[in-house]
Amino acid sequence: MSAAPISVATLATMKARGERITCLTCYDASFARLLEAAGVDVLLVGDSLGMVLQGHGSTVPVTLEHMAYHSACVARGRRRALLIADFPFLVGVTPERALVGAARLMQEGGAQVVKIEGGASVLETVRCLTTQGVPVCGHMGLMPQSVNLIGGYRFQGRDADSAETIRRDALAIAEAGASLLVLECVPAALAQEISRALTIPVIGIGAGAGCDGQVLVIYDILGLNPGQPPRFSRDFMKDSGSILEAVTGYVTAVREGSFPGPTETTY
Ligand code: KIV
Repeated sequence: MSAAPISVATLATMKARGERITCLTCYDASFARLLEAAGVDVLLVGDSLGMVLQGHGSTVPVTLEHMAYHSACVARGRRRALLIADFPFLVGVTPERALVGAARLMQEGGAQVVKIEGGASVLETVRCLTTQGVPVCGHMGLMPQSVNLIGGYRFQGRDADSAETIRRDALAIAEAGASLLVLECVPAALAQEISRALTIPVIGIGAGAGCDGQVLVIYDILGLNPGQPPRFSRDFMKDSGSILEAVTGYVTAVREGSFPGPTETTY
């Protein structure tokens, strides 16, 4: 792999070559430097920061201002990795709001791609953003911003109808112009089928090893969260002597296909 900056085109080439994409959440400049040193391809300024940094019970309280601030912190630490920043709650619901949000995350926050949760309901927004030159990453399956509607962080796509909705919406999001798609907490077979059907890279979290890449929350892989970590995650710090070694262990495991393993996968 060359040391050239990573773009959405680089990720598409990696998919075409069968090279797995590595992504971790990142919220500040120090971690941006460390994750890059470990070879992470994509830094995601996720609105999970509302839970792991701010201590909220969900991502709903996170604002555009918070996202722009943390994105700018990460942007100052990165050189090569692609920087994706999340649209917080309700910013992507209308094209007008989304354009304002994208301008803030890209101009103030230095983000190169914006991530938006939603399926059919955000197609118009995705079309509008990509028409205006904003690269978009979709996010489907478990959509944490909808936690109050779905009543918890539940696995999605288990029955035929919801699997079909995810399948159909994934194709539509790609057709609307998205450059990437995150699939969260869906059965491995469904995620693999969607990854094969789409030409854009699919990054999984709790979606099995058949995706084009993997993303996890950095605090989870460092064993920093009290209590039980999500079943689909792995504590890479447990057998490592340093944070750099733990993150490098994650990168290696994703690239060689040993993460996620069978116990970290829902079939
Ligand atoms: O907010 C976040 O960190 C995310 C990832 C877990 C995919 O959306």
